[in-house]
Amino acid sequence: MKYRILHYGEEPLREASQPVTEINDDVRRLVEDMFETMYESKGVGLAAPQVGVNLRVAIIDIGEDPLVLINPQILKLSGKETCDEGCLSFPGLTEKVERAKKVVAEATDLDGSVYEIEAEGLLARAIQHELDHLDGVLFIDRISKARKLQIKHELEILKSGESLYDEDEEETEETL
Ligand code: NI
Repeated sequence: MKYRILHYGEEPLREASQPVTEINDDVRRLVEDMFETMYESKGVGLAAPQVGVNLRVAIIDIGEDPLVLINPQILKLSGKETCDEGCLSFPGLTEKVERAKKVVAEATDLDGSVYEIEAEGLLARAIQHELDHLDGVLFIDRISKARKLQIKHELEILKSGESLYDEDEEETEETL
């Protein structure tokens, strides 16, 4: 089942999500449906609050192995890197966001095993972006106040449920 992806302005995006206490059929179905939703939207990352479920679950697929992150935690951040970033809950908006260049994180997979992941580049960015979602933090919270004022109009459009993409415009790749 494909979910509707929530837009900026919808309440669950701002809520802190609850830890998963048991990996049961509901969680497995949620993850499966999130993958379907993400692939159909051509995203490379998606967090459960973006589909209205406030659980600490995120998925990432940057074209390598699909990753399931249940109750993920950052263990270490290092370096800094500023890159263009987009989010499926802000269709058509791309902003430069500074994040740590490298990340070490820990998460549980669908089998219930805890794994550690070391990442840099897009994967490191995706992990930080999706983990932010689980705390109700959005990528526009990580841009300057001045820049946020400049894109006030775009944010209003997104808040009304509209997309910033032109009708004939392809959705950009690497949206988180
Ligand atoms: Ni996002």
